[in-house]
Amino acid sequence: MDIKVESGDITKSAAKAIIVNLFQGVTSPGGATGAVDKALDGGIAALIAEGEIKGKRGEVALVHSLGKLPTPRVLVAGLGKQDDFTIDVIRDVVGTALRRARATGAKTVATILHGAGIAGLDPEECAQAIAEGALMGGYRFRKYKNGGSVDGEEAGSDIESLTIVESDKGKAAAIKKGIERGQIMAQAANFTRDMANEPANELPPSALAARAQELAKDAGLEIEVWDEKKLTAAGMGALMGVGIGSVAPPRFIIMKYKGDPSSKKVLGLLGKGITFDSGGISIKPAAGMEAMKGDMSGAAAVLSTTWAIGKLKPKINLTCIVPTAENMPSGSATRPGDVVRAMNGKTIEVINTDAEGRLILADAICYANQEKLSPIIDVATLTGAMQIALGPGATGFFATTDEVANGLTEAGAKSGEQMWRMPLIGAYAEGLRSNVADIKNTGLRNGGAISAAEFLHFFVGDTEWAHIDMAGTDESDKEKGVWVKGSTGIPTRTLINFVLGWAAKK
Ligand code: BES
Ligand code: MN
Ligand code: ZN
Repeated sequence: MDIKVESGDITKSAAKAIIVNLFQGVTSPGGATGAVDKALDGGIAALIAEGEIKGKRGEVALVHSLGKLPTPRVLVAGLGKQDDFTIDVIRDVVGTALRRARATGAKTVATILHGAGIAGLDPEECAQAIAEGALMGGYRFRKYKNGGSVDGEEAGSDIESLTIVESDKGKAAAIKKGIERGQIMAQAANFTRDMANEPANELPPSALAARAQELAKDAGLEIEVWDEKKLTAAGMGALMGVGIGSVAPPRFIIMKYKGDPSSKKVLGLLGKGITFDSGGISIKPAAGMEAMKGDMSGAAAVLSTTWAIGKLKPKINLTCIVPTAENMPSGSATRPGDVVRAMNGKTIEVINTDAEGRLILADAICYANQEKLSPIIDVATLTGAMQIALGPGATGFFATTDEVANGLTEAGAKSGEQMWRMPLIGAYAEGLRSNVADIKNTGLRNGGAISAAEFLHFFVGDTEWAHIDMAGTDESDKEKGVWVKGSTGIPTRTLINFVLGWAAKK
């Protein structure tokens, strides 16, 4: 979808659909919506009086213009209550309106700059939100649909262009900048979705590494991919132990962005790349197991983030690390009771082969420490306990410093992806004592997300660190605003905003 800005009057637009807006409770629309209403001889105001159009958040009313405007149809997007209005509303409303426009068959769409006139928000931020909303809300994963699917959805109905029409010529440059940034943010989130939605038979560790190579090439980043021989030689026994039951061998991906050659400091972004989590010998129940193709969402998010940083070029050094493996049961798989050795020499007793994410991250953390990365931020669909604790509305994270914690919270708020800090509780590490090894991979039953974090903490040591457990938010079962069914792309935009914020501060 091509997104552009045009100086002019939305009532003159010949796009196949135009999007205007309405706050809840407004009975006679003003601004651009008012001008459109006037051209329609008060048609919108009449539908408000009828009670058909309420302006509720998420409501999109379709009004046919029947020759009274150059466009055949007007979509009136509800913004909800004026007091609750934020940049998130713009993203969501545009996402919903775009899908509605697509359903009409319109190929070209024009919209006003929501938020800038009525709410006085910054035009650049509004334009960015519109671009993000359109590209994320309009996302579909149709790679394996031939047409003639049981859902009846036909191919070829994508929207080709979205034009932001703004009468104030002075705002055009800011709108253009906002569109460009929004396109990169949304594209990164959609790359994450593409990787997470991809079935595991099509995306083994080697294929995830190939995707990383494509992203690195496109953004001009350095990349290295270690195969099973090299990572065995490096002593990554925890990662190897997880992947050893699969015919698709593990990989270790290292991607580098060097935006500040004058500094030795390098931020580390680590992502869990389990391309399929069957649980291994500690096999998962059948119901819902298909969702475990998305157990590499953390990896996808850090790779896409690094791509976006390569495009946005802030003054910072960033190394992205992805340990990737497939967790399968087989005659060669790791058994409960087996002991594996991580890269730093520490031994781990594997109590439950389904607690595999922390194992592969242990080796990645050892490598990050060896490279002196700081802070380290790891991103993982790590525990069902986190999903139960917070549900789909917020992503939980742990942090060793307030500075990193506040940075993540703020970046999440800016992205419309709520981040919620959880406590590290050192005492829970006692539950990780093993009779035979330095540590075991499962701990106390209660507070499972915290035990998992403390397991990682054991390998992190004193390095400044945050751990994001996105098990409850990586997937959506609903279509709502910018979210569509399947991978959400969370926390890609949060990570990009975090890195940009960190670069600006340091
Ligand atoms: N990938 C899962 C966690 C998960 C669960 C992600 C649900 C998304 C949705 C992880 O590898 C896992 O299996 N964790 C176990 C750990 C347990 C065995 C200590 C869990 O949470 O049940
Ligand atoms: Mn597991
Ligand atoms: Zn897992």
